[in-house]
Amino acid sequence: MSKKLYIKTYGCQMNAYDSTRMGDVLAPLGYAPVEGPLEADLVILNTCHIREKAEEKVYGELGRMRVEKERRAKLGQKMMIAVAGCVAQAEGEEIIKRAPFVDMVFGPQSYHKLPELLEKAAAREKPVELEFPQVQKFDFLPEETATPGSAAFLAVQEGCDKFCTFCVVPYTRGAEYSRAAADVLREARQLVDKGACEIMLLGQNVNAYHGAGADGESWSLAQLIRALAEIPGLKRIRYTTSHPRDMREDLMEAHAQVPQLMPYLHLPVQSGSDRVLKAMNRKHTAAEYIVIIESMRGSRADMAFSGDFIVGFPGETEADFEDTMALVRHVGYAGAYSFKYSPRPGTPAAEMEQVPEAVKDARLQRLQALLVSQAKAFNESWVGREMEVLLERDGKYEGQLVGRSPYMQAVHVRDSAQLRGQMVRVKITGASASSLTGELVIPGLSGDLERECA
Ligand code: SAH
Ligand code: SF4
Ligand code: F3S
Repeated sequence: MSKKLYIKTYGCQMNAYDSTRMGDVLAPLGYAPVEGPLEADLVILNTCHIREKAEEKVYGELGRMRVEKERRAKLGQKMMIAVAGCVAQAEGEEIIKRAPFVDMVFGPQSYHKLPELLEKAAAREKPVELEFPQVQKFDFLPEETATPGSAAFLAVQEGCDKFCTFCVVPYTRGAEYSRAAADVLREARQLVDKGACEIMLLGQNVNAYHGAGADGESWSLAQLIRALAEIPGLKRIRYTTSHPRDMREDLMEAHAQVPQLMPYLHLPVQSGSDRVLKAMNRKHTAAEYIVIIESMRGSRADMAFSGDFIVGFPGETEADFEDTMALVRHVGYAGAYSFKYSPRPGTPAAEMEQVPEAVKDARLQRLQALLVSQAKAFNESWVGREMEVLLERDGKYEGQLVGRSPYMQAVHVRDSAQLRGQMVRVKITGASASSLTGELVIPGLSGDLERECA
């Protein structure tokens, strides 16, 4: 009998990927995905621990699930509730203590054990699985069953050994691990066979990738990308998230030499002040970061960059913050994410002297104003020019689809409804800080034919 599964996903792309893979593990047990928690036999909250009050938000959501579970119990129906992801890893048993109606708790390294955990939960054992097992979960996950979109995710690396002093990820995801190249290539071929023509390689420190290669040697991310580029039908390759310390020469060269590798890099710097970078344990300076940006632009002139920034890290002075603003002006970002520092329990920075909230607010506003103006300028520089867009999903208006440019910009394309999943040539007619609008270049007029993706 078919059972209904609802997974609510928070956090990063790795969590989104993990949710799909949990669906793959559960499909052979008869679970089919549904759009919401109502009527679901199993609800999984796939949680994120990176932001402030992450735990409280999870308990709030669990409170709502409890109401539904009780409603269903009155009708004689069963509903199971599971907490997965990074809050599960961090909170563990505490979740069952505070929310005893939760049936199981498991961390990001245990998804392949879901069938076993479900059996225990059915026997009312309330399993809590937080091991970082020696045997990697990737070896036990079944083949992907879900149909990917035209742009798919593929995890190649997981975990982090860097221990930035603000970050929970090394504690929630465990030690750095790279999948073998052969496994990644097999999964990539399956995704392409099912219609994906863009693959985003995922990892918490993806450019630290050092998986076993087909030749028995350890492969770098650049070597993996070159092998992926051989797959017929794979038109675009991206990767995220990278760390400046692992930005090797061969990866920079790959951007110049592998046409499928997109001219876009998300390279978080966090701060422009060497003093703050040191306190963050980033192990790179602002100047070293800028050298990377400049040498990448040297090898591929149209490289676009985005980054992550934290303002108000403990001890950040006005002068430190000005260094961040100066770095942003120097780099010129196509887009970026910026956050107020939030103390994460158990991390070293949470114990340091904190910057007042009002100061953080004011700095964040100034930084975001600068980043928005840069994104707007970058997008406006495209008006009147043509670019390739992979059309992925419905737009707001009838007949319109939204896709991605090579530089990760969202592009809204008029009269394109019949071309979903295809790579098309678009003339850009409008731009804002967050997206572009454009029109299809009519085949024949420009000499460029729309290209089939799959
Ligand atoms: N692995 C990636 C990103 C990890 S988390 C990397 O190394 O860059 C994503 C982003 O969240 C980080 O880049 C950082 O900017 C932000 N972040 C992480 N912990 C934070 C905290 N305690 N307070 C504010 N922002 C944080
Ligand atoms: Fe967190 Fe730093 Fe590791 Fe990124 S490199 S996941 S910010 S500890
Ligand atoms: Fe969040 Fe865990 Fe990803 S803390 S950002 S879901 S690695």
